[in-house]
Amino acid sequence: MNTRLEAVDIRLGYGDRVIVDGLDLGVESGTVTTIIGPNGCGKSTLLRALGRLIKPLDGHVLLDGKRIDRMPSREVARLLGVLPQAPAAPEGLTVADLVARGRHPHQTWYRQWSPGDESAVAEALEWTGLLDLADRPLDELSGGQRQRAWISMALAQGTGLLLLDEPTTFLDLAHQIEVLELVHHLHARAGKTVVMVLHDLNLAARYADRLVAMRDGRVVAAGPPDEVLTESLLAEVFGLNAKIITDPVAGTPLVVPIGSTAGGD
Ligand SMILES: Nc1ncnc2c1ncn2[C@@H]1O[C@H](COP(=O)(O)OP(=O)(O)OP(=O)(O)O)[C@@H](O)[C@H]1O
Ligand SMILES: [Mg+2]
Repeated sequence: MNTRLEAVDIRLGYGDRVIVDGLDLGVESGTVTTIIGPNGCGKSTLLRALGRLIKPLDGHVLLDGKRIDRMPSREVARLLGVLPQAPAAPEGLTVADLVARGRHPHQTWYRQWSPGDESAVAEALEWTGLLDLADRPLDELSGGQRQRAWISMALAQGTGLLLLDEPTTFLDLAHQIEVLELVHHLHARAGKTVVMVLHDLNLAARYADRLVAMRDGRVVAAGPPDEVLTESLLAEVFGLNAKIITDPVAGTPLVVPIGSTAGGD
């Protein structure tokens, strides 16, 4: 296996505030890595740095062994697609317009919109079940439909590496499963490498090869879900008392919350 994306001793922050310090993380080709951790622990900050949306204050990120900050933006965009946590689009943009933007890195002044772009957009809309909504403005969609439109845009980009920050927010359970099945499909059939952030620990365990548990900007544990998702880790990372049983369907760890470790009874 080769490492597609790597954070080497990175320090991340905003202004004077350091959020992540001395963090190392390697993402192997063809794997699904899911980052878990409480609100505000730095998951999105880490994902933004891996996707070159923010620059580390120290250390660096390597994409296919090369420093990502030294690569041309277009080259990065052909290799890596990012779905941010709360993406914003211009008012009035339609679903099809948004998804078409995923093809921009593939266009040049001498090769503009092509049949290949057209089919990539149609395919991405089909994967997320949005073909019927293609001409609707984004601001008229439900939260879940809009989320699926953004996922389509990332898919239309056609990159081997996808960074997805909470791709299942706003989605009902059936659509959450649909998106995660799609991620699984992209990984299993198309060999894509995926790094995502999820809050649902049971779905995280079910759909990831590797979990990375963060707290206060640090990686507390990383490895296969059944090694990472333990009762002591949940107490340490989330302040949660829980019992772990085996998911009767997937055989992966299933978290049954008991209560907060902070108090109560
Ligand atoms: N653009 C920003 N400017 C200043 N501080 C920020 C910015 N974005 C995030 N932060 C701060 O950095 C810390 C980590 O935020 P981050 O968004 O990485 O957390 P997270 O783990 O993704 O949380 P959540 O689960 O709520 O999405 C928080 O304290 C947050 O307030
Ligand atoms: Mg976040």
